[in-house]
Amino acid sequence: MRQNIVAGNWKMNLTYPAALALAGEITALLADAPAGALPCVVVCPPFPFLTGVGEKLPQGGPLHLGAQNCHQKESGAFTGEVSAQMLATVGCEYVILGHSERRQHFREDDELLGQKLKVALAAGLKPIFCVGESLDTREADDTFAFIAKQLKDGLFHLSNEEFAQVVIAYEPIWAIGTGKTATSAQAQEVHAFIREQVARAYTAEAAQNVSILYGGSANAQNARELFGQPDVDGGLIGGASLKAQDFVAIIRSF
Ligand code: 13P
Repeated sequence: MRQNIVAGNWKMNLTYPAALALAGEITALLADAPAGALPCVVVCPPFPFLTGVGEKLPQGGPLHLGAQNCHQKESGAFTGEVSAQMLATVGCEYVILGHSERRQHFREDDELLGQKLKVALAAGLKPIFCVGESLDTREADDTFAFIAKQLKDGLFHLSNEEFAQVVIAYEPIWAIGTGKTATSAQAQEVHAFIREQVARAYTAEAAQNVSILYGGSANAQNARELFGQPDVDGGLIGGASLKAQDFVAIIRSF
């Protein structure tokens, strides 16, 4: 069954006390929602805050914990790195992989992302796998070919069982942190295309079941219209996820 999901990517922001306060505020603001009324909510704090933030999220409720990255190896001599299994053992259920900031600043390519996907899945984490084109690619009318290649090379090597655990996020790079949101029509067009690619690579059922989130300057003002599109199953939210009121307004936009 396709799930509506709103995930907050806190990126490299906040201090530990501020992160705990934010998690507490989000939890409090959602406390009166009737069971089943909310989408699945994922908060993705920086690594050192995961345990503390996780403790703020009531067990069995709509709030889930996610990480922003993991290392590609299971364990070993990789000073400073964090494994997928470590994340699972501190309560993470999700991990963001393939974010454009990691592709750009840390040179993460399809081969590396393939390894990360495998270790994440082996640890029982659900990957939120990001794709999205640059402004140059969009202006050159290459968006669909570019996204098709990112999906094929980055994701479609997974087995049917593995793919069933994956959430896809469409994050056009030109919309991330710029205040320039894709229009709901632009988002829908790409989301429908992604779903079609999934149907081709896997099955019609897999395409119907996969959640595809939009990310890029989504906020409390534009979320309802974006989430109203038939192939937009939620959002991956950056800046607006750092303000409890704004994030909760987005969560309530379905
Ligand atoms: P903004 O919502 O700040 O544009 O960030 C989107 C994003 O990169 C989420 O992963």
